[in-house]
Amino acid sequence: MERRQYLQIPGPTNVPDRILRSLSKPLINHRGPEFELLVEQCITGLKKVFRTQNDVLIFPSSGSGTLESAIVNLLSPGDTMVAVSQGLFSERMAAIGEKFGIHVLRINKAWGEAANVDEIEALLSQDTEKKIKAVCLPQNETTSAITNDIESIAKMMKKSEHPALLVVDAISSLACLPLETDGWGIDVVITASQKGLMLPPGLGMVSLNDRAWQQAEQSKMPKWYWDYNAVREKMKGGQFPYTPATTLLFGLKEALDILAEEGIEKVWERHELMGKAVRNAIHAMGLTLFAEEAYASDTVTSISMPEDIQYKELASMLNKDYGVVIGGGLQQLQGKIFRIGHLGAVHQLDVYAVMGAVEMALYRLGYNVELGTAAKAVAKTFLKE
Ligand SMILES: Cc1ncc(COP(=O)(O)O)c(C=O)c1O
Repeated sequence: MERRQYLQIPGPTNVPDRILRSLSKPLINHRGPEFELLVEQCITGLKKVFRTQNDVLIFPSSGSGTLESAIVNLLSPGDTMVAVSQGLFSERMAAIGEKFGIHVLRINKAWGEAANVDEIEALLSQDTEKKIKAVCLPQNETTSAITNDIESIAKMMKKSEHPALLVVDAISSLACLPLETDGWGIDVVITASQKGLMLPPGLGMVSLNDRAWQQAEQSKMPKWYWDYNAVREKMKGGQFPYTPATTLLFGLKEALDILAEEGIEKVWERHELMGKAVRNAIHAMGLTLFAEEAYASDTVTSISMPEDIQYKELASMLNKDYGVVIGGGLQQLQGKIFRIGHLGAVHQLDVYAVMGAVEMALYRLGYNVELGTAAKAVAKTFLKE
């Protein structure tokens, strides 16, 4: 019997039926007027989600490709950038920079710790020659499930009057967590389709303000596919310099309509509530959060594995018996934590079901918990009791 699957890894996320249907539309001419309208609608919708008046570019790409696009468009070999390294994805940005001959000043944090505004400020204030061209970090480090305080970092950078660009990887946070590209003055924001936008993987998106475009003009890095200028010029006319991912753009338009119907602030509030409900259930069951509580993410929760229970057994039982797919720890956290994604199309009863399944599986694996504990904590969160 076909059964509903709860894809609770921190992306790709569950794709709503409306989006799935839009992905099955027959293809259209990507050089025709129907396509031009589609691109225009996608850009208008994306600007609302990015909260910006800036250009938003779309690439047929994974998130990592779009991170690389920022490096090759904004910097030149020999430039200096600051990267907060606090997990697999933030470290990836630093590694991409190094591959392209950038001098990367890393701020190393333990996995599970958030970025510290003062540490970034100190590096900028020591840089009297203004060599630092960019400060790169994620809004949400998915591997450890922490959220950085981008608003404070953006404010500090503005106040410092250092010219470095603020480049934010919002791949596992855009359309989930509050982010004000223009309001906070973030120069570059990068995201991908398979998280808050509820689409399959395959699209990357990036917004750039005037400061970022000016710096892009100085870049001496070779590029063709990733050339922001070339893509911007074509996108103005509703086209791309290459064959675009037409089907995913059908899906993007549908996703943006769904987000607009709910209202982006309501989407943020829903994610906040889902995050709270998951954490309350985790605490009620006597489990330990891996991430620093004050910075615990509202899109993904990382939980330390209880003693004597193996991650593989838990994940396999959840998948096989309940149709719930969770994520594990990556690299140094392998086997030490499990992660529950609660981003994108996730609503109250989904969290109720998923946390109920987690509780049953843990109980069956010998964990000491009174049945019904998770459900009670989740319901109380939603009923605000
Ligand atoms: C914060 C963050 N950055 C970058 C990436 C890499 O994106 P992709 O796997 O689409 O290349 C991910 C993927 O999960 C992510 O969560």
